[in-house]
Amino acid sequence: MSQASIIDGKAFAARLREKIATSVALLKKDHGLTPALAVVLVGEDPASQVYVNAKGKQTEEAGMESITHRLSPDTPELELLELIESLNSDPKINGILVQLPLPEQIDETKVIDTIDPEKDVDGFHTINVGRLWVGQVAPVPCTPYGCLLMLKDTIGDLTGKRALVLGRSNIVGKPMAALLLAEHCTVTIAHSRTKDLQARCLEADILVAAVGRPQMVPGDWIKPGATVIDVGINRIDAPEKGVNEDGTPKTRLVGDVNFDEAVKVAGAITPVPGGVGPMTIANLLRNTVIAACRQNGLDDPDL
Ligand code: GUN
Repeated sequence: MSQASIIDGKAFAARLREKIATSVALLKKDHGLTPALAVVLVGEDPASQVYVNAKGKQTEEAGMESITHRLSPDTPELELLELIESLNSDPKINGILVQLPLPEQIDETKVIDTIDPEKDVDGFHTINVGRLWVGQVAPVPCTPYGCLLMLKDTIGDLTGKRALVLGRSNIVGKPMAALLLAEHCTVTIAHSRTKDLQARCLEADILVAAVGRPQMVPGDWIKPGATVIDVGINRIDAPEKGVNEDGTPKTRLVGDVNFDEAVKVAGAITPVPGGVGPMTIANLLRNTVIAACRQNGLDDPDL
């Protein structure tokens, strides 16, 4: 039986980070410019802490400046908005990222829309969402752009391909659909209320799964030869790995796609971990460098 090729996001992201580091070194040498990224974490969500630490570390490894603001879980909304305003007006800060999700006393949309759109390295500001959909220059959300880079590397020209995006979040599903449309795909956005989901998936040359439900997509939902991008990062119990000292089962990470089944049907597939995940931070670094160039009247680097 044929086996899908495995798309190595980890290696892809490492190559992108190398290019970014080269570009940062040039900016320093030629323009005395060191791009700086401010990351704001509110609360103690364990997954968010892991992501924020990784973002800080990789920002510095690329030669950029990283500033992390850690705020307590009960931070009032106004305090966060004031911090963002101060980062907006700080000329040394080129990119601002507020890690999501935020505690419930804080209005996420208000926070995102307080960030200066030119420093919005997530591409989540309402203005940047609009720019993306109308085809204007805009920072592109990091995870969907990572998916797009891997798709183009795997397939080449995406024109005319049928793409199914499973999930309609503002972070992944909707911007992914915008990017695929801009590449001339025929795009369907499916979600929890979609009828005949298996039939819709089976039509897709490109399937991007971003629903956050472990192994929801079985192998027999995948069109033979399709390219499958699995955005899900879900931790599930793995009793086959034994138990921890406290008696709880060990765990493992799985995607939204049943990998073992899908790999037998797809033409190419991203693994979890090691697929989409590493591309997200690499693109955050990319957006930070691009933001720094635009704010200083320089051409976008070729990244
Ligand atoms: N939480 C999960 N993914 C993301 C992301 O890409 N950006 C931000 N700011 N928060 C997130």
